[in-house]
Amino acid sequence: MSSVTLTREQQAVFAMIEGTRDHVFVTGRAGTGKSTLLNHLNWHTSKQIVICAPTGVAALNVGGQTIHSLFRLPIGVIADHEIEQNDTVRKLLNAMDTLVIDEVSMVNADLMDAMDRSLRQARQRPHEPFGGVQVVLFGDPYQLAPVPGGDRDERSYFADTYRSIWFFDAKVWREADLRIVELGEIHRQHDDEFKHMLNAVRHGMVTAEIAGVLNDVGARRPLPEDGAITLATRNDTVNRINAARLHRLPGTSKGNPAEVNGDFGGRAYPADELLELKVGAQVMFLRNDVSMAGEPPRWVNGTIGTVTNLKRELRVEIDGDEVEVEPATWEKFKYTWDPVRKRLEKDIVAEFTQFPLRLAWAVTIHKSQGASYDTAIVDLGQRAFSPGQTYVALSRLTALDGLYLQRPLRPSDVMVDEHVERFMAGALRQLAG
Ligand SMILES: Nc1ncnc2c1ncn2[C@@H]1O[C@H](COP(=O)(O)OP(=O)(O)OP(=O)(O)O)[C@@H](O)[C@H]1O
Ligand SMILES: [Mg+2]
Repeated sequence: MSSVTLTREQQAVFAMIEGTRDHVFVTGRAGTGKSTLLNHLNWHTSKQIVICAPTGVAALNVGGQTIHSLFRLPIGVIADHEIEQNDTVRKLLNAMDTLVIDEVSMVNADLMDAMDRSLRQARQRPHEPFGGVQVVLFGDPYQLAPVPGGDRDERSYFADTYRSIWFFDAKVWREADLRIVELGEIHRQHDDEFKHMLNAVRHGMVTAEIAGVLNDVGARRPLPEDGAITLATRNDTVNRINAARLHRLPGTSKGNPAEVNGDFGGRAYPADELLELKVGAQVMFLRNDVSMAGEPPRWVNGTIGTVTNLKRELRVEIDGDEVEVEPATWEKFKYTWDPVRKRLEKDIVAEFTQFPLRLAWAVTIHKSQGASYDTAIVDLGQRAFSPGQTYVALSRLTALDGLYLQRPLRPSDVMVDEHVERFMAGALRQLAG
């Protein structure tokens, strides 16, 4: 996991987080190594850090806790309601030097302010932002946005209180400085022309010429029958494609139940509770291979393969090689403060064991966030409906010749949130000055 050698720019950001108490927002285009850097920080920091993320799946991916469970916050808008804290939470919030939040683009302003208030309260430093804790944020606001959700009252609360729902419009930033660092070097793609086109999609500046190239490559070839994953906007499209393709295969399916121990909060399972498979099923790996020392990993999170055997052992073919797949265990962590050893302990509170696979003729674009694919069919359905959606989909591809489009790209598929543009323009001025 931590075998990648950081580039100089990644190393510089790591050194800045380690060497200062500044609040930092680490951003950058898709594939610039944000997750890689976070993972490195997790392993190599000498600070007492706590890692959290807005959603259960994002938290499991970085070995952290959800924000709500870490701070014991109620669901929904927190506004200026009193925040209840027991002794355990207070001790924990007192023990950390640095709070790391991954996928921060999905955190809304209200939640950002609730974290600030919780920390001030627990640490009894009511006048210091985040109660003196260093906050390090990772994410790309051009990708996933906060989920609007909530009822009408919640939405009017946001409209009346905040300039936008984004984390960067939280009130705490009027009192605290946020240093923005942008990773510039893209590692997922290597072709400059493709990188340039993705950048245009990111900023909503797709010219007729760029759209022409993307559509010529993507929409004029027959779609591949096998070996490509479909990235679709909607859940029902994904389920329909996967169920239909599984059904179409000969033979009977085998259901593999997961083993769940402890309290998983009920919802955020990292894989299927009952994984239906058949020989011939197209699957995607959900974890990196824990390879033996010195051996290259046989798969990574996102690798696509085909099930070849289900009887006694589960075997999957990847690019012509057959591998045996064992069940994997996801651990749900909880941080606690150990008063004797004077350190933050990360305890396992629940475990979920399942083959690290899911049916993968299709996944939602939302779930594909963070992954890399060599070949994919992008299905924007009737229309892309949230800012960043098309950018997330296209930027999963490692190269242009792996891109297939279910239908040609239209100008209306590319949307950029005005608040993101405003914030990032200011961020660039900060970087330049
Ligand atoms: N220093 C590095 N050396 C070699 N490969 C790297 C390096 N940093 C990142 N990569 C590779 O580049 C790819 C993208 O990295 P990563 O997933 O960390 O990017 P990201 O910024 O989190 O992207 P996204 O915004 O899409 O989540 C991965 O395959 C990763 O292994
Ligand atoms: Mg990432």
